[in-house]
Amino acid sequence: MSEKAKIILEGNEFELPVITGSEGEKAIDIGKLRDLTGYITLDSGFKNTGATTSGITFLDGELGILRHRGYDIEDLAANCSFLEVSYLILNGELPTAEQLVEFEAKISEHTLVNEGLEAMFKAFPTGSHPMGQLSSMISSLSLYYPKSLDPNRPEEAVKRTIIRLMAKMPTICAMIYKKRHGHPLVYPNNKLDYVTNFLNMTFGQVADPSYMADPVIVDAMNKLLILHADHEQNCSASTVRVVGSSQANLYSSISAGINALWGPLHGGANQEVLEMLEDIKNDGGDVEKYINKAKDKNDPFRLMGFGHRVYKNFDPRAKIIKKACDDVLDKLGVNDPILEIAKKLEEAALNDPYFIERKLFPNVDFYSGIIYRALGFPTDFFTVLFALGRLPGWIAQWQEMRTDKQPIARPRQIYTGAAPRPFVRMNDRA
Ligand code: CMC
Repeated sequence: MSEKAKIILEGNEFELPVITGSEGEKAIDIGKLRDLTGYITLDSGFKNTGATTSGITFLDGELGILRHRGYDIEDLAANCSFLEVSYLILNGELPTAEQLVEFEAKISEHTLVNEGLEAMFKAFPTGSHPMGQLSSMISSLSLYYPKSLDPNRPEEAVKRTIIRLMAKMPTICAMIYKKRHGHPLVYPNNKLDYVTNFLNMTFGQVADPSYMADPVIVDAMNKLLILHADHEQNCSASTVRVVGSSQANLYSSISAGINALWGPLHGGANQEVLEMLEDIKNDGGDVEKYINKAKDKNDPFRLMGFGHRVYKNFDPRAKIIKKACDDVLDKLGVNDPILEIAKKLEEAALNDPYFIERKLFPNVDFYSGIIYRALGFPTDFFTVLFALGRLPGWIAQWQEMRTDKQPIARPRQIYTGAAPRPFVRMNDRA
């Protein structure tokens, strides 16, 4: 007999179906609750609400497990290229050697962007934030590819849009970097792999065609992108699904995801972490002072890079990144005093009852910024790198939402405003 949940409301008992996921997670299906009882559920911040079933990513926050399509993140990060993991996330299976070559070739056909996009930089104020630029540019792709606006296009055409977006994202990210520095653009070189091409467009110089990204940097970048590739129903992925559920096109949905990621509580935390570590360093390196600030409820300061909505034991990505961080700094011979502060802060927090009781551990953003800095990226560019890594995940979430034919997202609310009252004409208002 299939399991049921019973709910008693106003003396009446109702049965609700129970859903079990492939890893044994349980949910009560409340889809018919309002029809049956007149009640809705209330869950601010969706802390306990499953918005969808999904076959892309599994994570267990208590055990610190993260798997994409059944494969452990540790194995993927140690053995794959970013495009291999992207293929897995997008298609559900690891590619064969031929499938990967074909996927890479298709992407390299679309790496150029329309020259018109360059003109957008004239409109952006000097020094404007790269994430605002990125979301505007990705959104504008829908104007260059108006057929993408049609929600009923054949699947082959949708797949072309997906390839196009995967291909143009590194080019656009590199453009943002170049324009910020006032340097001429380096065009994509399609003989290079995805990550090397991105690094060459970013750090290469038109005047020096011989530039080639250091394999140590390519390796670290590959790993970082893989570690960010998907993270199930987080704020930005949910945003992509919500926006896409209105049948908005892929570019607009991803642009919305980029904006959600920008926030300091989400992907924007990697920039905030580095700025916080700089502040602590400039303030004399007193780690204890900042731990106390984070614990003080009257102080809005939070320890950035600590805590996670889902991970309550450790963030498996942070473990891998911490090791990669040590390796990269070692290989590049970088001695960053910020790393020392980060390590002290981590140690102090992990031994402090406030953080232990609340299960607050370093998350993915805590160490990634230190690596990005060692690789030569400016602080406000860090979240762009998160977005570049997260792209396949967002796309897969958008595709799954479509192919599962999910209805438009439209939560309900409990109204707490004024009761009905008679209208008062302007002259009679006090
Ligand atoms: N520093 C100090 N206290 C914290 C922190 C922190 N970083 N994070 C949570 N707390 C406290 C919070 O004040 C609350 O305490 P109390 O129970 O006494 O009121 C308790 O811990 C629970 O916090 P919450 O805000 O209810 O937890 P949440 O699940 O709503 O928020 C979070 C999760 C990630 C937004 C939060 O931990 C945070 O703001 N962290 C800092 C920002 C950050 O690093 N974000 C990156 C997340 S990982 C990358 C990604 O996937 O986006």
